Amino acid sequence: MSAPSATHLHPDVQAVLSNLDPATRDLPDARVLPPQAYCSDAFFEFEREAVFMHSWLCVGRVEQLPAAGDYIALTVAGESILVVRDTGGGVRAMSALCRHRGHPVAQNCSGNAKRFTCPYHRWTYDLEGRLVGAPHIVRQVPIETLKQEATLPPVRCEVWQGFVFVNFDDGAPALAPTLSKLDPYFEGYPMHDMVAVLPRPQEAPVPWNWKILLENYIEPYHTEFVHPVIHDFAPSTGVVFDPWHPDDNAISRGVPFLAEGGGLTEAGWAAPASFPVIPTLSDRQKRQVAFCLLPPTMNLIFTPDMICWGVTYPESATSLRVSGGLFTHGGWLVPRATAELPDFDDRAARLMEGSRQLGEQDTGVNVAMQAAKRSRHAPHGRLCYLEETLSQFNKWLSAKYRAQAARSGLG
Ligand code: FES
Ligand SMILES: [Fe+2]
Repeated sequence: MSAPSATHLHPDVQAVLSNLDPATRDLPDARVLPPQAYCSDAFFEFEREAVFMHSWLCVGRVEQLPAAGDYIALTVAGESILVVRDTGGGVRAMSALCRHRGHPVAQNCSGNAKRFTCPYHRWTYDLEGRLVGAPHIVRQVPIETLKQEATLPPVRCEVWQGFVFVNFDDGAPALAPTLSKLDPYFEGYPMHDMVAVLPRPQEAPVPWNWKILLENYIEPYHTEFVHPVIHDFAPSTGVVFDPWHPDDNAISRGVPFLAEGGGLTEAGWAAPASFPVIPTLSDRQKRQVAFCLLPPTMNLIFTPDMICWGVTYPESATSLRVSGGLFTHGGWLVPRATAELPDFDDRAARLMEGSRQLGEQDTGVNVAMQAAKRSRHAPHGRLCYLEETLSQFNKWLSAKYRAQAARSGLG
């Protein structure tokens, strides 16, 4: 994928770039992003480069890679990659494209391997991505020459709080410092003794733009209107927005509960939570839910009984794959004692029933929002102070868009 140049930027891309300023103003003057940002195929292609090729992308958990040779082969923003526990015990990522003619050595699968062998002509690589064999061609070129030429290209990889991230931008700042404002949220959770319940994959993508989902997730303005009764226990009027700085890769807010020990239940947000309250949390943590966005792919929810994570990957301008994050079963970090409860599945079912109700209501607005973006009357509406997180997200996105424009010679 090559970066677009100034000479061939699509009109939709130009329309978004030339109308970014209102979206990046501070409140009370901040406005929504231009509508082409949500429905244009051309803008999505621009965004794949601007955002997804220059951001830290969550690709899994370390629990998926416990032993040397464990790997995940996945396609991320159109790039086929391998994430591997190598022989030294580290987690590394590399392009999965064979250096012969480019067939992936593994694709959309996981397992344990000592070697990766390309299915096309059986060039073989070790866990570090080094070529170790290539049939027949070694009669023509010495294997040592091939080895020097043909290593699976490394992709930057960082593990943060047990989550594995990759970044296709070799020059991007390290991830962890850009997430430091989330450290207080992790305090009190026994991370050394938490069990990961991995998210179940979603059966079909949802039919709306990835930003529509994240906006709905991170703004509390809608909750009392779209989720009456089932969200009353976490009233948006009490929300506390964390400040956002241009170096942050996290957008976060806390919402106090009406009582201690709440969580998501079959009755929505309520107390007692579906799982036991974690006793090591602070009084404040026992009385709130915190929503954190790690754009562009990850979200985290901290509740008194668990940490929930979700991962979202767009497939096109108007379709998105979602897993965990209360969208599907799993994506949960719970204390081992919770995971071992004999009625764990019943409790999880209670939580998922609340999730289903919230999700159904949000689906209605997400579908309507996607349709609105195509209208000639799509608004450039003003954001409310209860949408501070949307203003922050707009600033994060706009920085990515403008950096790409600068790389394309438009800055
Ligand atoms: S493309 Fe992989 S061996 Fe030919
Ligand atoms: Fe919602």
